[in-house]
Amino acid sequence: MAEVQVEKLSRSFGAHKALDNVSIDFPDGGFYALLGPSGSGKTTLLRMIAGFDFPDAGSIRIGGEGVERVPVEKRRIGMVFQSYALFPNMSVADNIAFGLSVRGESKSEIAGAVQNALDLVQLGKLGERRPHQLSGGQRQRVALARAIVIKPRVLLLDEPLGALDKALRVDMQIELKRIQREIGITTIFVTHDQEEALTMSDRIGILRDGRLVQEGPPEDIYDSPRSEFAATFLGDANILRGDATEDGIRLPDGTAIAAGSGVRKVAGAKVSCAVRPERIQIAEAAGADQASGNLLRGRVSKRIFAGNSSTYFVDRDGESIKVLVQNSGAEKLAEGANVVLRWSPESTVLISS
Ligand SMILES: Nc1ncnc2c1ncn2[C@@H]1O[C@H](COP(=O)(O)OP(=O)(O)OP(=O)(O)O)[C@@H](O)[C@H]1O
Ligand SMILES: [Mg+2]
Repeated sequence: MAEVQVEKLSRSFGAHKALDNVSIDFPDGGFYALLGPSGSGKTTLLRMIAGFDFPDAGSIRIGGEGVERVPVEKRRIGMVFQSYALFPNMSVADNIAFGLSVRGESKSEIAGAVQNALDLVQLGKLGERRPHQLSGGQRQRVALARAIVIKPRVLLLDEPLGALDKALRVDMQIELKRIQREIGITTIFVTHDQEEALTMSDRIGILRDGRLVQEGPPEDIYDSPRSEFAATFLGDANILRGDATEDGIRLPDGTAIAAGSGVRKVAGAKVSCAVRPERIQIAEAAGADQASGNLLRGRVSKRIFAGNSSTYFVDRDGESIKVLVQNSGAEKLAEGANVVLRWSPESTVLISS
C-alpha cells in the first residue's frame, strides 16, 4: 500500500482551469472522499493520479516516489470509472481477469486470483455470466473486483455508487468499506453525495472550480467550516450576515450573536456565521423562559415532515431560518406560531463568505 501526495497540481483545458494549484496528502491505508459539485475537477484529479492524463504543473508521488515518468500500467493503481466500463462481450470472470492477462500471468494463477476477487465481492458463483445478465449493484461489484484483482497500491473510485438506487447504494457503501478495511488499501473515492462522504471516509477534501476549498476529517469540516461554501455543501447550514464584533457578529437589526469559533475579523468588518439547523432549539414564544446563549424571535412559516424529523422554517425580518427537530412525539408547533430560537455560541462558527 502507499500514500499518495499531490502538490500544487494544475491542469487547464484551453482557457478553463480544471485544477488550480491543488495540494493534498492521501494517507496510507486511508479512505479519502473527494467531494464537489459537477465540473469541480474530481475526475480530472483521479485521472492524473492514475496516469491517464498529465498535470501542467505540480507533482504526484505514490509511496514517496515521483510518478511523472511512470506509465499507467506501472503505477499499480486500480480504478473504477464513473461508468463501470465493463467489457459487454466478456464473461464476468474474463472482465476481472483482464488486467492479469495483459500482464501475462499464468492461467492457473489468474483463475485463482479471479476466484478470490469474486469471493471478496460476494459474486462467487456468477463468473460465467455476462455483464447484461447482472443487476446494477452486481455490475458495480465486478468493476470493483476487476480493480482490486491486480493487487494495486491505491484504489481510485470515481462515483462508483452513482447509478444505484438508495437502498442498494447503502448496502454497497457498507460492502465497500468492509472490502477496503479487509485489504487495507489507500482509497480515493469521488462522490457528490455529502452523506456518503461523511459516513464512509476518514478524510474529506472539498473541491470547487478546480480549487481545494477545505480538507480534513469529516467531523472537523462539519463542525468548523471555514467558508459559506463548505458549510452549505457539507451538511445544511443557516448563514447569518452582519458586522464583526469582539465576540461574534451583529445582525443588521442590532441583535448580537456570540460565536465560539471561526474566522475572527476586526470589529465592524463584514462577516457571516454558520449555524447547523439541528443545533437550534425552538419553543413557543409565550412559554419561553430566560436563558443564556444566542436568541432570535420569529414566526413559523412552514413545517416539513420527514418521518423521524421535521424541519421548521422560521421567518424573521425577511430571512428564513431552518430548524431541524427530531420527532419524539412532543407537541408540534403550528404554522404561524410565534417562536423563540436559541442556540449556544459553541454552535456558531464565523466564516468567510
Ligand atoms: N478532456 C477535456 N477537455 C476539455 N475540458 C475538460 C476535459 N476534461 C474535463 N474538462 C473540464 O474540466 C472541468 C472539470 O471536469 P471533471 O470531469 O474533473 O469534473 P468532475 O468534478 O468530475 O464533475 P462530475 O461530478 O460531473 O463528474 C469541467 O469543466 C470539464 O468540462
Ligand atoms: Mg467526474
